[in-house]
Amino acid sequence: MTTPKQPRLKQGEKVLFIMAGVFVVLAIVAFIVMEVSSSKSGTPLFKMRVHDNFNAEGLRGSALFRKRGCTVCHRALRDGTNMGRTADMDGIGSRLTLDYMYKFLLNPKTVYKTELFDHSPGHDAGFVQLMPPKELHAIATFLSQLKADQGAADSPVPPKGDSLFIDTMVNTWAPKEWKLKYHDIRDDYKNVGKPKEAGK
Ligand code: HEC
Repeated sequence: MTTPKQPRLKQGEKVLFIMAGVFVVLAIVAFIVMEVSSSKSGTPLFKMRVHDNFNAEGLRGSALFRKRGCTVCHRALRDGTNMGRTADMDGIGSRLTLDYMYKFLLNPKTVYKTELFDHSPGHDAGFVQLMPPKELHAIATFLSQLKADQGAADSPVPPKGDSLFIDTMVNTWAPKEWKLKYHDIRDDYKNVGKPKEAGK
């Protein structure tokens, strides 16, 4: 009795298997090289562009920010959520003042003149308005001390130096009228620290 012959792989199938195998091996090698080189190199993968420097009240606010559940919807100092209704608070102190944030937390209507999605009575963050003003002041202080460096996404000041990318995008895509209507805010920072020319 003859045993049935094992079906053999066709030529094309062999080539496909080998190619898939080579890709898997390459991916594993590349991953190992990346991990080893990034763990050995002293420079971080992403540059930190936000910083913080807290006083005593700011530190109290930082603890309250987590204890009172702001981190359910917000994020600061690597704590909190990236999901859903999140607003990243790192760097917010370069955009909003302590006074503004304190007023917002006490009663958002004084700054927005309208009902908000979450920060309104009866909504999910409605409890914030009912917190003791002292706690809200500490949290506002904490938030105001989360600063963004120049060029960070949250910073009102554009990155230092010229950017070929931004220049190319503006030259290619910005309609002519924009150039008449608006001015490039980078020009405001070009001469910072340099003496002003007479007549300007
Ligand atoms: C249920 C989700 C939720 C919780 C909890 C929450 N927030 Fe908010 N927060 C929001 C949303 C959404 C916005 C945007 C405004 C809106 O729609 O209410 C916002 C906006 C803000 C702003 C920005 C205001 C502005 O003008 O840009 C600050 C500051 C703020 N929240 C602080 C806090 C603090 C402090 C706490 C905790 C005491 C807190 N939030 C708890 C959802 C939340």
